[in-house]
Amino acid sequence: MRYSFAVVAMATMVAGQSLDLGLVSAAPAVTASGPAVSATAETITFSPAASGTAAVTGVATASATASQAANAKRAVIEARTVNVNNLLCQWFGWFCPASSTSTKATSTSCTTSTAAKTTAKTAAVSTSSGLIASITSIASISHITALPTPTGIPTTCVNTWTNTNAFTQDAACPTPYEVGTYCGFVNPEDPCATQPLGSGPAVSPDTSAAFLANPVFKSASLNAKTPSGYALTFQDYNASTSAATYLGLQTLTSYDPATCAAACDSTSTCTSFNIYIERDPSLNPSSTFCCPNPASITNYKCTLWGSIIDGTTATNAGQWRDGFEVVITGSNGYTKANTTTPVTPPGWTNPQSCDGAHSHPSTCIGNHFFPGPFDPQVCASFAQAQNIKNGASTGRGYANNHCNFFNAYMLKQDGKPKGTYCSLFAQQYDHSVATYHPGWLGGSYYDVETSWSFCSS
Ligand SMILES: *[C@@H]1O[C@H](CO)[C@@H](O)[C@H](O)[C@H]1NC(C)=O
Ligand SMILES: *[C@@H]1O[C@H](CO)[C@@H](O)[C@H](O)[C@H]1NC(C)=O
Repeated sequence: MRYSFAVVAMATMVAGQSLDLGLVSAAPAVTASGPAVSATAETITFSPAASGTAAVTGVATASATASQAANAKRAVIEARTVNVNNLLCQWFGWFCPASSTSTKATSTSCTTSTAAKTTAKTAAVSTSSGLIASITSIASISHITALPTPTGIPTTCVNTWTNTNAFTQDAACPTPYEVGTYCGFVNPEDPCATQPLGSGPAVSPDTSAAFLANPVFKSASLNAKTPSGYALTFQDYNASTSAATYLGLQTLTSYDPATCAAACDSTSTCTSFNIYIERDPSLNPSSTFCCPNPASITNYKCTLWGSIIDGTTATNAGQWRDGFEVVITGSNGYTKANTTTPVTPPGWTNPQSCDGAHSHPSTCIGNHFFPGPFDPQVCASFAQAQNIKNGASTGRGYANNHCNFFNAYMLKQDGKPKGTYCSLFAQQYDHSVATYHPGWLGGSYYDVETSWSFCSS
């Protein structure tokens, strides 16, 4: 018993050195953690260059005034070689610190000052709108058990809705259409308007229970072929993925993981996808205008993600839309994150896959957390902007204001992906010393997923 107490205390102390929870809690929430309720197509875009640059608010330096390498040979090489950083990184096995023990011995903080953090927080919040474009609502209602029956839905109605928008007509179009739209346009957001798509088979009886129990859907999910390059992470769930690494939605014409994989492959930072079958309303439900619970349609949906997704993230079991129950089944998750080498940002080189995170407090120049998909580019932009702010000279030798190495990893909180955590260092390290795993902090369990390091080129 005493022994385990000691272990806990030690783990907490070491953990406190690297993952800065203040940065995590100060980060703006992502605008969408899954598709909007009535969306059939969506694209979420991030601006890593702008976000990375905005994260820098003041000069920041590492506490170590000289390289922490005990290796004299290294010092000689640093003195002689202009492009030493690149070389050291490529020949790491030789010139990196002997073990992580030496770095653990230093207790110096590697974060910027409290004042700088407060400024950073304000800046991050005020620029958060630049992070994500054009998503107006979030659908993240999560309930795996039965959905509660909605209350307050009128039992009588009068169909009095009239479209008061201006209409226009032209010779080529048989019916008038709304100004600013096109011939035949129906706004799916109008009450009781016909909803688009619905390529899947109708279910009889038309109930959510029959939908969930449909053997055709189950078989589509269980017999789906895993696309080449991907691994199946969960199968035949009655819930879709909801997470901070959401990148977009497509509605497909069949249950086809290959099409969804192709969409992921052509989307920057996408490494996982979720394909599922959703019971959707054929009309936009409105009890006020007499269509509270219209007939259902069946949609094949494909969502894209910038992290691993697994069963832990499949938490969206649908929702009520007025008197209509949206449910989800046949939900499969696929990932290629473990076998994907992220794009090396311009100006950097030698991507190294790491088991854990790099924690070297004395040579660390700063950290920042960016909610959203895993993207080393955001860290590269952060590093570059920090170097410019610091007036750091590039080139030979160690300078505690010059970042020439960074670690980017996907931070997971209680098993769910949160965003990219970046740590900047004045010194380069081998991936073998990236052994830090945060563990329990502030009541949550934090872990490191897809951790990569890069050297300046
Ligand atoms: C999905 O719902 C069906 C019907 O209620 C049920 O039989 C099945 O076990 C559920 N699947 C999961 C993974 O919960
Ligand atoms: C990815 O790698 C991690 C760490 O090795 C492992 O725990 C996980 O199971 C892997 N996931 C897949 C889908 O291969």
